[in-house]
Parts: sequence; structure tokens; C-alpha cells
Amino acid sequence: MEKEKIIIFDTTLRDGEQAPGFSMTVEEKVTMAKQLEKLNVDVIEAGFAAASPGDFEAVRAVAETVKNCTVCSLARALETDIEKAGEALASAEKKRIHTFIATSPIHMKYKLKMSPEQVLERAVSAVKFARNFTDDVEFSAEDAFRSERDFLFKIFEAVIDAGAKTINVPDTVGYAMPEEFGQLIADIKSNVPNIDKAVISVHCHNDLGLAVANSLSAIKNGARQAHVTINGIGERAGNAALEEVVMAIKVRHDYFKNVYTEINTKEIYKTSRLLCRITGSFVQPNKAIVGDNAFAHEAGIHQHGILAHRETYEIMRAEDVGVPASKIVLGKHSGRHAFKTRLEELGYKNLSEEEIDRLFIKFKELADKKKEVFDEDIEALLFEELFKKYEEVKLLYFHILSGNSAIPSSTVKILKDGEEITASSHGDGPIDSALRALEKALGITGRLKDYTIRSLSAGKDAMGEVRVMVDFDGTTTSGKGTSTDIIEASVKAYLDAYNRYIARKTFIENRISGGI
Ligand code: KIV
Ligand code: ZN
Repeated sequence: MEKEKIIIFDTTLRDGEQAPGFSMTVEEKVTMAKQLEKLNVDVIEAGFAAASPGDFEAVRAVAETVKNCTVCSLARALETDIEKAGEALASAEKKRIHTFIATSPIHMKYKLKMSPEQVLERAVSAVKFARNFTDDVEFSAEDAFRSERDFLFKIFEAVIDAGAKTINVPDTVGYAMPEEFGQLIADIKSNVPNIDKAVISVHCHNDLGLAVANSLSAIKNGARQAHVTINGIGERAGNAALEEVVMAIKVRHDYFKNVYTEINTKEIYKTSRLLCRITGSFVQPNKAIVGDNAFAHEAGIHQHGILAHRETYEIMRAEDVGVPASKIVLGKHSGRHAFKTRLEELGYKNLSEEEIDRLFIKFKELADKKKEVFDEDIEALLFEELFKKYEEVKLLYFHILSGNSAIPSSTVKILKDGEEITASSHGDGPIDSALRALEKALGITGRLKDYTIRSLSAGKDAMGEVRVMVDFDGTTTSGKGTSTDIIEASVKAYLDAYNRYIARKTFIENRISGGI
């Protein structure tokens, strides 16, 4: 029997980015899209072009950059949305418009305030209109799982007649059980008369922790496209995780006999790490495939088994998903050549000599502070350097006075609009006083909504990574900073959030005055 391909539709940059704390700048989305291209996903949903000027620009920039994947924009079943999607995708080599409307009784009645007949008519005209921009049109029946079956079959038949090449079946609220969801796909196959003219796709949310199971059950029953996200990020509890769906199909090829994906699995780990770095949020250590403990064998009996015969406790190899083999890398005696080689081994092959020089100086400074420089440390340096482009305000220095019998006080000096500004403040701890001093210098007060700190590697001299979420004037941005000094990491993270806030504000103001 000939194997059929499962189309991997990645929606990290759309559904994933929609979740609080995961927003990305245009530049970050482009960086992520380039990595998704290396991972070899089939479709990248780059955003929802009509949602905001930022989303429009991100779809446009990804469409311009990515060559080997289809680039897609989401659009409500509205001509204005579809036009924006078509415009943003204009330069894409391969483009897709993904239009959607809700089909469940509860959504039609309370959200859309439309009758099923009106919804059907709108869906058909949206698909026809989208065909003016591309032949590759996907239609989603939002909340499909809670929709009445006969209506669902009818709307799918009508949109396929209208020119949809893919029909997507979302479990929008993550309500389905795997057996039921698989059965729904089987029923669509046998009740939609023209289903042979379209690909059946699924989009599962993880509210009950079943997004991956539901997606796999759908594939077993005839779905040939899965909407997924890196690390499973997405609205509420997230979407089906790309790495889990893909590795389940690969590892259990005996079970998924007639299907395969074209994902370059060796890029999985790097893609997951890149997303963590960009968004500043980490995966839990026991997360399947990409968590820190996913390949760690702690119990003696397991270690013994692994040494005797690897497959006693291992169903896949860390190398298969691109987890680097050695963890300890360089130290203060390592030269530029060794540093460059390690960067290449970690997959960063396209850096310019000038970028490597800049990074090497940072690496030497770090190696002076800590004995062993781990892969995680190198990646942290890399991302700090790469994302400096939008750095409006720079930290020049900070000074802290603290102790268990002193009132913590800090002085911070920054460079803002070419001017050096110094400010001081007290606080109820060293971090509080440093952030207050920074706010005085910036001339703005933010609300710190979240603060997390973790060590990037082992050892008392490890680099600390701080992640913050700050509300500036009603806009929440995230920021991150790394340093062997946790106060410095905190100040950097706060400043990073401020710079992102300014970058976003400036960008949106420019686009609005530019008239999109
Ligand atoms: O969850 C959902 O239903 C969606 C659709 C827009 C596909 O994200
Ligand atoms: Zn969704």
C-alpha cells in the first residue's frame, strides 16, 4: 500500500501567538518562520492579516521571506478580511487563504446571531471570493465538533463545490474524546459526497489534554492535514504539539502504517528552543519530546538497562529530534575557531563574521565569570545579540546597595535618545529598588504582571534567565534578560519589555499614519 503524506500545517505564529505572553514582533516571527522552513513544515500560518497592522506586516514579511513552505493567513468569512489576507500574501511563492466561520448552534446563535442558512451562504461566498487571490483556499468550520452533523456535512459539501481545497475540522474548545473525534472524520468521509476533491484537516485544542490524541485519531480515520504548534502553544491550554504528533507517527510507523510526514525531525529541538528564547517561556521539564528530562534516565535500574541495551527504556533517540549530544562545551581558553565550530554544531551556520566577532567578545566576558560555558549559555548570548536591533534604550550601568540590615537602594544609568540619564531609588528588595530606579530613568511606570527566574545550566556560577511580563499603558509585553548576576538579568528583562513596547508602539503608529 502506498503511503500518504500528512500535511503539517503549523499555526505557532497565529493560534500560538494569540495566547497571552506569546506575542512576537515582526522580526521574531520572521526568525521563527525561517526555522519552521528548516523544519520543513508544509504550511506556515503566519498570522491573521486583518487583525492588526502588526499582524498584517508579519504575514507580509513572512510571505516575502519564506520560499519552500506555503504561507497562509487567517481571514474571517468577510470580504474585507480576505482582501487584507490576499494583499499581505501577494509576494508569497506559495500562498493559502484560510477562511473560517462558526457552525455550532451555540456560536451561530449567540456570537454570530446568524441562521444556519446565512452561515452557509457566507461560507460559500467567502471561499469563492478567496479564490480570486489564490487557488489554495482552506475553509474551517469553527467549533465543528459541537456542530450538528448534517449541517456540517452540508456546509463542507458546499464550500468544496465553491472551490475550497482543504476543509478543516476544529475542536475549538477541546471537548472531543479521541474515539469520537476519529469517528467524526470517518463520518465526514462517508457523508460528504465530493470529499475526494478536498483534504480533510484537523485543528485540536488541548483543554482536556487530548489535542494530540484527537489529532492522531483523526489521522487514523482519514485526516491528511494536522494543524499543530511548536511546544503545543495556543489559545488557553494550547493546540496539538507538532513534535508529539510528528514523533508519534514516526516512532509508531508500525501503527500508522500508511502515513508519513516530511518533517526534518532533527530540527525539532532547535525549533522548540528558539520559540522558548523568543517568547521567554519555557516548556515543563517532563514535556514529551522537547522537555529537559525527555531523554534523561535517572533511576539506577533504568540506567543499567540503557547501558546493557538502549531499547530497554528508549523508544527514540535524542539525536533523532536534534538534542545535542554533548552538553559541556567551552571555557575561557577556547578560541574563536572552537566557538564558531560550536555555533555551527548547534545549527547557527549563517552568522556573519562580524556577528561572530561580536558574540565571541561576549563569550569571553562570560567565560571569565564562569568556568564552563554550556550550549544554553551560548544560545542566550546569541539571542541577546540578534534581537538588539530594536533596542531603543540601552543600559549603561547599575549599582545596588543591599543586605539584611540595609534599605536596598539602586542607581541606574541608561542611554535614551542619545542622552545619558541617571536615576536612583529605594525599594523593598534589591530587584524592586533597581526596577524603580530604571522606571524613574525611563519616565514611565509599568505594572509587573509576572516575574520568573531560572538557571540556564548547572553550577552556582550559572547564568540566570529572568522573564517578565509588564503592562505599560495597557499594553502587555514580555521581556527577558540573562546574566550571571540575577539583578542585572532582572534589569535587562524589564528594559527588554520596555523596548518591545516602544518598538510595537512606534511600528503601529507608523503603519497607521502610512494608512494601512
Ligand atoms: O480553534 C479554532 O477553531 C481556530 C479556527 C480559526 C481554525 O483557531
Ligand atoms: Zn484554534
